[in-house]
Amino acid sequence: MDILDPRINDYLADLASVDDEPVLAEMEERAAQNGFPIVGRLCGQVLELLARSIGASRIFEMGSGYGYSAYWFSRAVGPDGEIHLTDMDPENERLALGYLGRAGLDGPINYHVASAVEAFDATTGEFDVVYCDIDKDGYPEAWARAKERIRVGGMFICDNMLWDGRVAGVSEPPNDRRDAWGKIIDGVNRTITADPNFRSLIVPLRDGVIVALRVQ
Ligand SMILES: C[S@@+](CC[C@H](N)C(=O)[O-])C[C@H]1O[C@@H](n2cnc3c(N)ncnc32)[C@H](O)[C@@H]1O
Repeated sequence: MDILDPRINDYLADLASVDDEPVLAEMEERAAQNGFPIVGRLCGQVLELLARSIGASRIFEMGSGYGYSAYWFSRAVGPDGEIHLTDMDPENERLALGYLGRAGLDGPINYHVASAVEAFDATTGEFDVVYCDIDKDGYPEAWARAKERIRVGGMFICDNMLWDGRVAGVSEPPNDRRDAWGKIIDGVNRTITADPNFRSLIVPLRDGVIVALRVQ
């Protein structure tokens, strides 16, 4: 289902089209051709804005694919920042380094071909942003790990939190292993929004992005 009225989405997309960086367009074209679930341009803008708004310089991404979401984070942190990307497919690392290199955005990139949570555990210190976009049955563990290592004033940002409306019972399950994911995501939404250390809201763009700011 469309979370946002397509006419409104088209309007926002039109405004966002002023960004005519060719590498960005290439990455979007690859997603369209292969049905790869990138976060998309509007949510990408949200990622950059949020990261810039808190002066982020150190970011951990759980589930990076070929670097589209990292493209936006890299614009925010600049070449002296630090972004950890994770994915289990080495081909995604190769593609990400190619795209981000050609865009001049590979300065802060550290790509781990590994399970996101294992790579997170192996990378010490606090983060300004932990961004999560892995398989959804991994979300409870990702949140549990991340929330302890986000600095006060930092953010947990996580994609697909409306899961095509299924968290609200307004669309049919996909009839595959993702049947159970709606319940899992709903559980994580409720856990995050009830956490007294965070203030949070789901931004209802594309498939819903939760933004949780650590306040204490
Ligand atoms: C939705 S895509 C990520 C898209 C990316 N955030 C973007 O917007 O460009 C999810 C990616 O995470 C990877 N992935 C899924 N579960 C993972 C896990 N537990 N650890 C590491 N990578 C994982 C998948 O292989 C896939 O490439």
